[in-house]
Amino acid sequence: MTDLPMPAPRPFSPGLEGVVAGETSLSYVDGENGRLLYRGYRIGDLVERGTYPAVANLLWTGDWDATHRLPTAPIPAPVLSILRALPAETKPMDALRTAVSAWGATQDLPWPPTVEHARAITSFSPSALAAFARLRAGLEPVEPDPSLDLVEGFLYQLKGERPDAATARALDAYFIVGAEHGFNASTFTARVVISTRSDIASALVGAIGTMKGPLHGGAPSEVVDQLSRVGSADHAEAWVREALANGERLMGFGHRVYRAYDPRAAALRKVAEAMPTRPDWLQLAIDVEDVALRVLAETHPDRPLKTNVEFYAAPVLMGVGLSPDLFPAAFSLSRHAGWTAHVLEQSANNRLIRPDVNYVGPAERDLPA
Ligand code: ACO
Repeated sequence: MTDLPMPAPRPFSPGLEGVVAGETSLSYVDGENGRLLYRGYRIGDLVERGTYPAVANLLWTGDWDATHRLPTAPIPAPVLSILRALPAETKPMDALRTAVSAWGATQDLPWPPTVEHARAITSFSPSALAAFARLRAGLEPVEPDPSLDLVEGFLYQLKGERPDAATARALDAYFIVGAEHGFNASTFTARVVISTRSDIASALVGAIGTMKGPLHGGAPSEVVDQLSRVGSADHAEAWVREALANGERLMGFGHRVYRAYDPRAAALRKVAEAMPTRPDWLQLAIDVEDVALRVLAETHPDRPLKTNVEFYAAPVLMGVGLSPDLFPAAFSLSRHAGWTAHVLEQSANNRLIRPDVNYVGPAERDLPA
């Protein structure tokens, strides 16, 4: 028995909300004004004038080269064997996480991580997800076509035929808006992992596991689910009111940081509206959004709850022919650019990330006799 005092609790913020846990030059998320910049460039301009590989390169190197290309990469044989061994009912996020982990086991990834590591893992993962999606459907994987850029190549490996330009463009836009977003949960996870001087594959395994949670990366498929439950625009108001009265959350609305309209949702809505074959879900989404914003403003007058990126991701991803259960994994593919850029940024000026915690358990005591 000692008479040492127990510590007094120090202030803490549940969910680390509002806590500044680092510095980054990769993106600026201005939640109040609905602004998102990658290395200073506006997201809307990057979607209009860039491609995903150019944006990834910008994040990794700081240089803007609109012609930068990044084809998808072949899958190492041991990784393909592992994908073949997975049960067909494996969740795509579990398959992607497993593939990235197995890929890491086949690579030499010494400290510190490099831009080459970032390029390698970012170009590997689309091939792995496409291969898994084909294998579970009883189809053989398709080899990468090095003449295609990353997003077009992913669709080619997924479907077995080259996508039309508009489809590839729409998914590329989705990849650009998904590429980077500050200290979100999965990115923070990647930084924690790499801060231990672990490797880039381990950092991304942690990030994919974090993004698997429905509060982070699972929303667009739930948006599709909610839209199909709404069914038609004239039913939207009754459905929204009933869902909120039952304590349900409207998927695709609200954000930890944005209090204004998510600029990524605005950019994606524009892309979806410009698709030559208007996605079926788009008009319903637009109608439901109008109702949801009005009703959320009524029910939560003090908490601005606006459309987030996931809401318009749903019609775009449906429009390019992805099945809803692939949505979170497609989001993860897009976030590879940001995760890997954060891995590079963290390791360039590394300090082990190790926060403190308030102990709230029993005071010091003796074991029962
Ligand atoms: N629908 C209905 N009410 C909501 C919603 C929503 N989508 N989002 C928040 N609220 C309400 C909460 O019920 C709470 O109300 P209360 O104070 O009356 O209890 C209030 O708004 C604040 O909610 P919090 O949970 O404190 O907000 P937080 O910042 O933790 O949540 C989150 C952010 C998780 C994104 C939340 O808005 C949500 O669950 N949205 C739906 C899921 C979704 O769209 N996720 C994708 C996010 S974007 C991304 O990850 C890329």
